[in-house]
Amino acid sequence: MNPNRSPNTAAETAPLIRLQGIQKSFLSDELETRALDEVSLVVRCGEFLAVSGPSGCGKSSLLSILGLLDSPSSGSYELNGQRVDQLDPRARALLRNRQIGFVFQAFNLISDLSVEDNIALPLSYRSEMSRAERRARVAEALAQVDMAHRARHHPAQLSGGQQQRVAIARALVGQPRLILADEPTGNLDSRNAELVMALLQKVHAGGATLCMVTHDPRYAALAQRTVALFDGRVVADLPTAALHSGQARAAGGQPALAEAL
Ligand SMILES: Nc1ncnc2c1ncn2[C@@H]1O[C@H](COP(=O)(O)OP(=O)(O)OP(=O)(O)O)[C@@H](O)[C@H]1O
Ligand SMILES: [Mg+2]
Repeated sequence: MNPNRSPNTAAETAPLIRLQGIQKSFLSDELETRALDEVSLVVRCGEFLAVSGPSGCGKSSLLSILGLLDSPSSGSYELNGQRVDQLDPRARALLRNRQIGFVFQAFNLISDLSVEDNIALPLSYRSEMSRAERRARVAEALAQVDMAHRARHHPAQLSGGQQQRVAIARALVGQPRLILADEPTGNLDSRNAELVMALLQKVHAGGATLCMVTHDPRYAALAQRTVALFDGRVVADLPTAALHSGQARAAGGQPALAEAL
């Protein structure tokens, strides 16, 4: 599937994410680590963005802020036209539950819950939704990732690839407009990684905006655009096709950019 043939042509759609001058610092033992430094970024509705860069450059920190799991030390974040960097944790959680789905490298399923109960979890915060609708949504999400036959299993009874498919179903069940994936194929063999990428591409083709951290150039190449970070800064923000042709080679003279790619 060609992600560039998504129903949303990125250049024509409105911004979903607008970051301006985002800083994120962590203080521990009087030591300050600056994870993000003056990050400004616009992601349009329906885009598929890859985030790359060496270990420790700030990729997960960026995704945590985009996903309202953490707030920036300074700078502004508009999600769908609404300022969200100053929201209190409760308002952030509400917005996150409605608008954002996460997929993590380590799957992060709850071991005590069955597959279907894991997937249903995001819906438990939607008091307006009837039991019947919840059940229908869970069944639909299970079918989307081809895991209906394992609905009653527990995570420990599944392979890594199956667990990640369940995690994707959990991310999709609330029908969020933004999917954030942090190295979703990092713990998978290549066959399962390809299955997971095919699923994520399908979700993107269905209209969701997808921001994915990946170290794997094969999967970064599926995105429409790649943002490269180095030491907490954006050092490249280019259409993916350009990164894999002459412009990436032209970056050879810039060590930070070359390493981030
Ligand atoms: N909770 C925290 N407390 C202190 N420092 C942190 C915290 N989280 C991240 N950092 C620091 O911020 C920097 C960026 O970390 P981050 O996890 O965003 O990197 P990353 O690009 O995702 O790396 P990797 O590819 O290894 O996952 C690192 O120097 C890290 O040590
Ligand atoms: Mg990380």
